[in-house]
Amino acid sequence: MRLDIFTQVPHAFAWMTEQRPLAAVLGTELELRLFNYRDTTPLRSGQVDDEPYGGGAGMVLRVDVVAAALDAVYGSSPDQRVIALTPQGRPLTQSVVEELAAEPALTLLSSRFEGFDERIVTHLCSDAISIGPYVLSGGELPAMVLVDAVARRLPGAIRQESGAVETFSAELEGGVEFPQYTRPPEFNGWPVPDILLSGDHARIATWRREQSRERTLS
Ligand SMILES: C[S@@+](CC[C@H](N)C(=O)[O-])C[C@H]1O[C@@H](n2cnc3c(N)ncnc32)[C@H](O)[C@@H]1O
Repeated sequence: MRLDIFTQVPHAFAWMTEQRPLAAVLGTELELRLFNYRDTTPLRSGQVDDEPYGGGAGMVLRVDVVAAALDAVYGSSPDQRVIALTPQGRPLTQSVVEELAAEPALTLLSSRFEGFDERIVTHLCSDAISIGPYVLSGGELPAMVLVDAVARRLPGAIRQESGAVETFSAELEGGVEFPQYTRPPEFNGWPVPDILLSGDHARIATWRREQSRERTLS
């Protein structure tokens, strides 16, 4: 998969590219490209945003700037999904993540301050996605959230069984995962459930499934 991210802050992504699962698939299953709107802006002095028509606080990312950035990379029009990251978009869920992970290429547009000129979302994007019902200062963290969630679904990112049996997976009927424990078997009088120390894998599997169902319904 090729993931292209357009941002005003490309260096914000440095940390993410060094961490697993992204680091595990970068250069093999995943090609990540970062583009700065300022590098291709047709305006002087690297300007990318402007005051909102009608007045009001903040600056709005300009449509001509984003069009120029997309043109510089793809020519006339991208033949891949172009997604605006905005709190007004459709919610990012695990099923949306699975849908995006199946794409051969994706483009993510992030903004800052007051957000996008609406014409960017309407005319230059095929989709708009929100990572949750709250407002962040910029689209960089939302882009990283989406990239991490998608990257861990790519082959080789994580152990196959980790991804197959986890919260929201089909294996757990879309529910939440059972509780996990590790050593020590007791701490501060808080014991690990006996069943997990029994070595009886069939009973452990049944107990986990029950726990998953109970937690999902509660
Ligand atoms: C301060 S927000 C703009 C909010 C916008 N004025 C509004 O009221 O909807 C700046 C940018 O951060 C990003 N952003 C903030 N919250 C987000 C969220 N929940 N999901 C996705 N992107 C978000 C978007 O790229 C957005 O354009």
